[in-house]
Amino acid sequence: MTALTRLSLTDFRNYAGLTLRLDARPVCLYGSNGAGKTNLLEAVSQFGPGRGLRSAQLSEMTRRDAPGGWALAATLDDEQKISITLDTAGTAKRTVRIDGAPASPGDLAERIRIVWLTPAMDGVFRGGASDRRRFFDRLVMAHLPAHGKAAARYDKALAERNALIERGHVDPAWADAIEARLAEAGTEMAINRAIVLEALQIAIDARPEGHFPKADLTLEGAAEAAALKGEDFRTIFDLLVDAYHSGRRRDIGAGRTLSGPHRTDLAVIHRPTAAPAGEASTGQQKALLIGLVLASATALSAGGSGPSPLLLLDEAAAHLDPDRRAALFDELTVLGGQAWLTGTEAFLFEAFGDRAQRIRVDEGSATLAE
Ligand SMILES: Nc1ncnc2c1ncn2[C@@H]1O[C@H](COP(=O)(O)OP(=O)(O)O)[C@@H](O)[C@H]1O
Ligand SMILES: [Mg+2]
Repeated sequence: MTALTRLSLTDFRNYAGLTLRLDARPVCLYGSNGAGKTNLLEAVSQFGPGRGLRSAQLSEMTRRDAPGGWALAATLDDEQKISITLDTAGTAKRTVRIDGAPASPGDLAERIRIVWLTPAMDGVFRGGASDRRRFFDRLVMAHLPAHGKAAARYDKALAERNALIERGHVDPAWADAIEARLAEAGTEMAINRAIVLEALQIAIDARPEGHFPKADLTLEGAAEAAALKGEDFRTIFDLLVDAYHSGRRRDIGAGRTLSGPHRTDLAVIHRPTAAPAGEASTGQQKALLIGLVLASATALSAGGSGPSPLLLLDEAAAHLDPDRRAALFDELTVLGGQAWLTGTEAFLFEAFGDRAQRIRVDEGSATLAE
């Protein structure tokens, strides 16, 4: 069981100072709007890669009126206990320490994995391809932390190619060099995405029938399609190099790069109706998303290649009817990683019984309510 058994916040959002002592059971946070529930989930999400569940700047998360930056500390109880501290005071970066010793974000990614679902993701099936790509890439990063670095290399090369293209006059040797870097990072991204898509689909298919509908997932992108067919690195690399090369004239006309993994979409079919997820009802989409996130958590736990993920579910319980809520709690109770849930009222978590711990959140303070 992977769980946080202690969490301390200093000058983080509306918390001047708070320490929570927890056990491994799911954590239910309840309290009125604006109390600081999502802020607590955001604090937990800082222990994962990236900027956390609000994609906020480090400085935004510092408590207003606080003299310096924020700090977080947690005890992670897995096979063994480790302590993790994050500190931003006086720096523009998170400083990571594991058991007191300086550590890198990569070290952290080996110890703790986090998956989340927030109300901001509700429109993901109806929104644009970039929203779905970001949603999916975050799941890929939870499985394969190196995906983030490949994506960063890709974005850098893409910006260089776009700058070249905007000038309208492309030096072929220069473009060849940039496109080779783009194709190298793009191939790695496509392979990562294909690996995670397959693992996710297997986990979805193995899920119980019933409360959360199943999804059929496809990646719409030439490189990912090749990766899903099992093509090797070289073949996908060549495919991308050809696509960038032959697309130069078209891209100069458009003023930007029109093909490549930065355009890939995640197509999601709502299996019970065989229709695109974006056409399902709001409630069906929410249930589908919860199913996807649960499948992702199961796939991460099953992989055996790292710790089970903590699962952060912001305002998920309120949207479900009592039966579905109870079914969700049953699943969360047996996951390999601790779940964190928020809701405005304690009664939303009744069906957990004593299988969860409850915390009352109230304007920058939080107290265990048993
Ligand atoms: N940097 C900050 N410093 C102080 N308070 C903050 C900061 N950022 C957000 N807040 C406050 O946190 C509250 C929102 O907390 P949130 O966790 O989103 O509430 P909820 O319990 O509804 O999820 C708001 O009152 C907001 O003013
Ligand atoms: Mg909230």
